[in-house]
Amino acid sequence: MQVLVTGATGTVGREVVRALLERGHAVRALSREPATAALPAEVEVVRGDLTDPTTLAPALQGVEAVHLIAFDAPRGSGGGAALTEVEPLLAQLRTAGVRRVTVLQNGYPGPLEAAIAEQDAIGWTILQPVEFMANMIGDWAEQIRASGPVEEPYVDRLSAMVHEADIGDVAAIALTAGGYEGTELVLTGPRPLTLRDKLDAVGAATGSQIGLVELTVEEAEARWRAQGMDDETVAFSHWIYGDGGPEIGRTPSGVVEQVTGRPAREVTEWAAAHADAFR
Ligand SMILES: NC(=O)c1ccc[n+]([C@@H]2O[C@H](COP(=O)([O-])OP(=O)(O)OC[C@H]3O[C@@H](n4cnc5c(N)ncnc54)[C@H](OP(=O)(O)O)[C@@H]3O)[C@@H](O)[C@H]2O)c1
Repeated sequence: MQVLVTGATGTVGREVVRALLERGHAVRALSREPATAALPAEVEVVRGDLTDPTTLAPALQGVEAVHLIAFDAPRGSGGGAALTEVEPLLAQLRTAGVRRVTVLQNGYPGPLEAAIAEQDAIGWTILQPVEFMANMIGDWAEQIRASGPVEEPYVDRLSAMVHEADIGDVAAIALTAGGYEGTELVLTGPRPLTLRDKLDAVGAATGSQIGLVELTVEEAEARWRAQGMDDETVAFSHWIYGDGGPEIGRTPSGVVEQVTGRPAREVTEWAAAHADAFR
């Protein structure tokens, strides 16, 4: 099948591309900066911007399925606008004859998911991943590379974090084999992990002991405010860390296993593949 992947230069999008290529599909990637996309040679990279649907016609030509990213705030290092005007985008997909779409949800339901669920011309599947394993790089790599302990509050909080490659595999199956149209898939890893579990996985991969220092709630809040967080974001951080946030973030859903027919990838596998980021 000919499939268009948006967000293809991002953490998840690269895995959607890999999963489609592995299954023998023709992949076109949308990027605002094709020259720096750094995707495999067999991928056709086409310039386009989801917030400007007039740029999308060349990317959609001959495409049967599209992986979409949702973002109601500007996304990525290139900045740009938020994706809030979604009807023109959906009209372009219908005109191009797209049959199936996956939408990677932006943490919570936004305008794209609402609009696509209201129409029935295109078979849609909403992908709702919980915390990505890749977040460990942004959160901790610098501290670990400097041999310092990781300093965090609420160290017993649980997360059923998901491997980005599993999101890619589920997206590729939903786009090409189908069978998940009209559904929302909550994508998790195989088990709930504490912070210690995550750091032990990274430590085993790097051959090091990684310290963990628990911050008091007051110390954590002082750091968040020093980073410029407003009252609302501080309250959100206490909820997501202290109360564990939404139940779906902590509880394995079994969806990756159902869709792919194999176990969801473990954090140890992720850590082994990304050990260099922490050395
Ligand atoms: N981190 C988590 O734990 C988590 C959990 C659940 C959901 N999510 C959501 O998952 C989504 C994907 O995350 P990610 O980490 O894979 O993304 P990412 O690495 O930050 O990459 C962002 C991607 O968005 C593309 N993009 C941004 N603005 C665009 C526009 N106007 N038109 C077309 N493409 C545009 C960029 O493409 P170019 O720069 O090449 O144009 C890039 O490929 C995000 O919406 C995130 O909020 C994250």
